[in-house]
Amino acid sequence: MLRTHTCNCLTTADAGKQVTLIGWVDTVRDLGGVRFVDLRDREGITQIVFNPSNAEVHEIAKNLKDESVIQVTGTVTLRDADTINDKLTTGTIEVVAESIVIENVCAPLPFPMDDDKADKVNEDLRGEFRYLDIRRPRNLNLLRMRAKAGLAVRNYLDEQAFVEVETPTLFKSTPEGAREFLVPSRLNPGHFYALTQSPQQYKQMLMVGGIERYYQMARCYRDEDLRADRQPEFTQVDIEMSFIEREDIYALIEGMLKRVWKEVLNVDIPTPFPRMPYKEAMDRYGVDKPDTRFGIEITDFTDLFKSSSFKVFNSVANSANGVVRAINAKGLEDITQGELTNLENIAKSLGAKGLAFIKAANGEWKSPILKFFSEEEKAALKEKLNIEDGDIVFFAASSWEQASAILGRIRLESAKLLQARGKLEISPNQFNFLWVIEFPLMLWDEEQNRFVSAHHPFTAPVKEDVPLLDSDPKAVRGQHYDIVLNGVELGGGSIRIHNPVMQKKVFEDVLAIPKDVVESRFGYMLKAFSYGAPPHGGIALGFDRLVTMLAGRTSIRDLLAFPKTQRGQDLMAQCPSAVTEKQLKDVHIKVRDEE
Ligand code: AMO
Ligand code: AMP
Repeated sequence: MLRTHTCNCLTTADAGKQVTLIGWVDTVRDLGGVRFVDLRDREGITQIVFNPSNAEVHEIAKNLKDESVIQVTGTVTLRDADTINDKLTTGTIEVVAESIVIENVCAPLPFPMDDDKADKVNEDLRGEFRYLDIRRPRNLNLLRMRAKAGLAVRNYLDEQAFVEVETPTLFKSTPEGAREFLVPSRLNPGHFYALTQSPQQYKQMLMVGGIERYYQMARCYRDEDLRADRQPEFTQVDIEMSFIEREDIYALIEGMLKRVWKEVLNVDIPTPFPRMPYKEAMDRYGVDKPDTRFGIEITDFTDLFKSSSFKVFNSVANSANGVVRAINAKGLEDITQGELTNLENIAKSLGAKGLAFIKAANGEWKSPILKFFSEEEKAALKEKLNIEDGDIVFFAASSWEQASAILGRIRLESAKLLQARGKLEISPNQFNFLWVIEFPLMLWDEEQNRFVSAHHPFTAPVKEDVPLLDSDPKAVRGQHYDIVLNGVELGGGSIRIHNPVMQKKVFEDVLAIPKDVVESRFGYMLKAFSYGAPPHGGIALGFDRLVTMLAGRTSIRDLLAFPKTQRGQDLMAQCPSAVTEKQLKDVHIKVRDEE
């Protein structure tokens, strides 16, 4: 070992010992003669003293550059009472240097390493020098927290008799879910693997294989548009079990999250988690992953406006599937014109024609549409939305789906504006876990003019709804559940179909996938199900999202050692990158010039 101790462990008990430390130069201070270096390693900081009486080391210390790597041997010495540093674990001692080895001189730094300053540096620059960014204690601790959470998950699942099984990432293209990354096969010209979006089909095959309880910290790949909570490659805590029902999954996951929160944050989260049907989540919060830490809930006024003289609302209220709904962003009457325009643009990007509103101030209501409202309508709005001075009410008149999406987003945006004004307190230390249940099995896709799976095509319908599969597929509920935390979808899963006849029916009759396509994509699965497939179900939790929530961060990029940018690039290694003609030829690929 190149050291006798880490930089965070020496105390008064070590006084007089000769020690060797190695690490990075955190800071150098020259106090007129005596030079001090804060030496830092993963664990912490120790102050090193270079006295002029040792001319050789004193001279070397003069030119030390920040972030250089040095090894120092010296004697642990007690600090004078007035120089004790309470902020450091090692603040009662210092090491008086006797010899020093410079292992690596650090080049001029591209950005300051001080946490508060570095956090403000452009993310692209930090991405290019990701190794320096990781070296900052704040980021190192995030990676260590991630490891701790992973260990808690593994220990818990191991105790629950789960078997960790690795499954391939080179898989078959089954374009039912997200867009896939394709990998050309050199040995099979013109044929491609797809990187696994999730080990869904493999884990179901493991159930047919009799594993009974499977888990994997699984790498997943999806070629999606990236956002703060989405990366092209990410990790799932992937779980599948045989001979179980939905309740078993709820209990398992509640126990697991309880354990993780306890071990990582020492926080006791109450279980069982509340449950909310999908329909209720959409009606009250406009999303299937509601943030229940604050109100601003959606109120329905469809019936009220059925006979309104305001044509826009009247016609929507009387149309099939049309709703008129509103939220009261309490206290946001002082919204600026710019903020209001921004909200309108958000509503328009979600398909709204506009974003009608009412502002209440000084006992008066102001609104471009106020003249259309009858006294009865105003009274009903006031009562149901509890409209008081200082409030602003937003309306959406649209299809149920669209109105939910619009008000769901406006609710979140309003909350942000209220938070910024100090009018709404949303605690990051409050953990509102929620099961969202009773999803529909199918959603109607306008563009494709067919049903698509709400979760994935392997999800089993609720038993008593099976007869509706032929007559009214939209009314069939799936045995699907999502676990949500503070407005973030942490994970989702379902009880699966294990009967080949039922699975074939869902593929062919309900999802209208042509027979030959079903055979080529899923034929092996249907075959496997005819060889004694056990009833089974499972779930996958986005591990990156989970640890991001644990760390109280907003971007999952912070919790990945080497994240990709919004454009899917690794700025450090600089990929994706061009390859040679020979490489392309080997895999039978020709690149066309972009038109
Ligand atoms: P699903 O597609 O809902 O289900 O994914 C499960 C969880 O994975 C996380 N996740 C992501 N995290 C980061 N970046 C992404 N691009 C990304 N995409 C998804 C989310 C999500 O809730 N096989 C099924 C699970 C099952 O049925 O068992 C599946 O993959 O947190
Ligand atoms: P109009 O009569 O079309 O000019 O609309 C009057 C007001 O209602 C404007 O402020 C629009 O922004 C708003 N508005 C129009 N259509 C909708 C809708 N579907 N949902 C909510 N507000 C709307």
